[in-house]
This record gives sequence, C-alpha cells and structure tokens, in this order.
Amino acid sequence: MYVCVCRGISDNHVKEAVNDGAQTPKCVFRSCGKKPKCGKCISHLSDHIEAHAGARISPMGVAAE
Ligand code: FES
Repeated sequence: MYVCVCRGISDNHVKEAVNDGAQTPKCVFRSCGKKPKCGKCISHLSDHIEAHAGARISPMGVAAE
C-alpha cells in the first residue's frame, strides 16, 4: 500500500526506514532518497511511523527482538 503517492513510498518503505531509525516523515523521505512534493501524506506517514515504532517497542519501553 502506498503511503506517499507522489513519491511512491509504500508501507514497507516506512517500516524499513523505521527499522533503520527514522522517527519523522522527513527521516523517511531521506531514507528513501526522496523529497516531499505535495505534503499531503505527512500525517499519514506519521501514523505509520508511530504504528511501526510501537510494534518494535515493548510495553516496557525496551526494543523487542
Ligand atoms: S503524497 Fe507524499 S508528497 Fe504528495
């Protein structure tokens, strides 16, 4: 599923970027080697970052393996 239609950034791209340490939409764009165009995806990107980061972090705040 595309999160950013303008730049073709998918949910999997976001997941990989988060696994590499991305914490903001700007970091995801940088990780993908792209720059935002219209910016309409920013809040959607933030939601995906939060969802993937939440999946990596256990309730105790320790990174899950
Ligand atoms: S949808 Fe991401 S920059 Fe336009």
